[in-house]
Amino acid sequence: MSEFYFSCIECGTTFSLSENIYRCPRCGDLLEIKVAVDELRGRVDFEGLRRLPLSVWRYAPLLPIADRLKIVTLNEGGTGLHRCRRLGSLLGLEHLYVKNEGENPTGSFKDRGMTVGVTRALEVGAKRVICASTGNTAASLAAYSAKAGLETIVLIPSGKIAYGKLAQAIVYGAKIVQIRGNFDEALKIVFEICSRNREIYLLNSINPFRIEGQKTLAYEVCDQLSRQPDYFIIPVGNAGNISAAWKGFTEYYELGQIEAKPRMVGVQAEGAAPIAEAVAKRRYTIKPVEKPETIATAIRIGMPVSWKKALRAIYESEGTAITVSDEEILEAQSLLARLEGLFVEPASATPIAALKKLKEGGYLSRDDVVVCVATGHGLKDPDVVSRLYEKPVELEADVSSIERFLGLAEKEVAVDSPKPAC
Ligand code: F0G
Repeated sequence: MSEFYFSCIECGTTFSLSENIYRCPRCGDLLEIKVAVDELRGRVDFEGLRRLPLSVWRYAPLLPIADRLKIVTLNEGGTGLHRCRRLGSLLGLEHLYVKNEGENPTGSFKDRGMTVGVTRALEVGAKRVICASTGNTAASLAAYSAKAGLETIVLIPSGKIAYGKLAQAIVYGAKIVQIRGNFDEALKIVFEICSRNREIYLLNSINPFRIEGQKTLAYEVCDQLSRQPDYFIIPVGNAGNISAAWKGFTEYYELGQIEAKPRMVGVQAEGAAPIAEAVAKRRYTIKPVEKPETIATAIRIGMPVSWKKALRAIYESEGTAITVSDEEILEAQSLLARLEGLFVEPASATPIAALKKLKEGGYLSRDDVVVCVATGHGLKDPDVVSRLYEKPVELEADVSSIERFLGLAEKEVAVDSPKPAC
C-alpha cells in the first residue's frame, strides 16, 4: 500500500494510510489520497483489466484497499453510458452521452464511494458509521453497512429529503435522526459527534476513501468511449463528486490511458450556487449561501465541504460552472425521460438543463463529445412527479368512452355473420 498515501491539499504534508484521519492533522484542510502513478504505471496490466466486467472493482489496483477479502460490494459501477441521439439532435450536439448512475444498486453514484468507504470502515475496525445527508448518501451508507453488519446513524434535514431515499434508509435499518435544520447544519453536527466519539466512523464525502471509489466514474467513461470526453457536465452539491471525477481523469491521463483531460462543468441550482457564483467572479474562495433553496433537494447545500477541490477541478481543467432554475430542471427531467427513456431525479437533470445554455452561449460545439452525469434515479423522488406533473385521466371501464378520449374514430359495432354451411 506504499503507493497510496494521504496528502493535504493545502499544506502538502503527507501521512500514511495507517492513520485514521479525515482532515489534515497539521492545518485542518482537506486530505486526498495520492496514488504514486510512476510506481503503478509499469505494474498495472490495463489491457487485462479492461477484459474484466465494467465495475468499481475492475479498477482494484488503483484503489487503496489492502485486504481484498474484506471488500463490501453490492455490484456497484458498470453503469450505462447512453448515446442520446434524439436529445442531441434537438440541441445540436452530435456526440451527447448520459452516464446513468441511477443504475447503481441503491440508485445513485454514492454506491461507488460507499463500497470503498465501508470496506475501509471494516479495515479500521469500526462498528458504527455516520453521515449527514440530503438522502442518497444515507440510503447508500445504510445499504452497505447493513451488508457489512455495522450500525448506521444518519442525520437528515427534516422534511427536505425525497421520500424514496428516506424509505431506503428506513428499510435498510439505519438509525435516522431528522434535524430541524438544513444539510449544512446536519454536517456540522456530524463532524462534532465524530470528533467527540472517535470510534464512530465518518462517511461523508470529506472522507478521502469515498472519493477514491467515486473516481472510477471517470475511468469507466473513458473505457466506454475508448477516449476522454471533451466536456464532463456534473451536478454539484457538497462538491465531492466533481472532485472525484477530476481525480479519476487526472490519474488516467498520468497513467497514459487517455490523451487529454476533459473540461469540467459544474452545475448548481440557482438557489444553492456558491461554487457557480465564485467561478462567475473568478474567485478562489466561496461565499456560503445561508438559506439554500431548490426543488432539487439532493443539492440543496449552501456550504459545500469540498469547495476548494471543486474550484481546483474547474480552474485546472479550464472548465466552468453554471446555474439553472427549478423550472429549467423540471423541463430537463421531462425532456430526458420523453426523448431518451431515462428517468432521473431533479438534481440529476441539472446537466441536461445546462446544455441548452452552454450550446446557445457558444461554449459547446456540434462536434464536441459531451458526457452528462445523471447522478440518481427518478424513482427516488416520486413526490415531484405527483405534485408537478399532470395527473392521468380516470374513465369508466368501457371501450367507447376510452376510444372517444383517445380520439379514435367511432366504429359500427361489428356483428359476426354466420358462416355459410358447406
Ligand atoms: N446528485 C445527487 C442525486 C446527489 O444526491 C448529490 C449529493 C449530488 C448530485 C451532488 O454530489 O455532493 O458530491 O457534489 N448528495 C449528497 C447526499 C449530498 O447526502 O446524498 P456532491
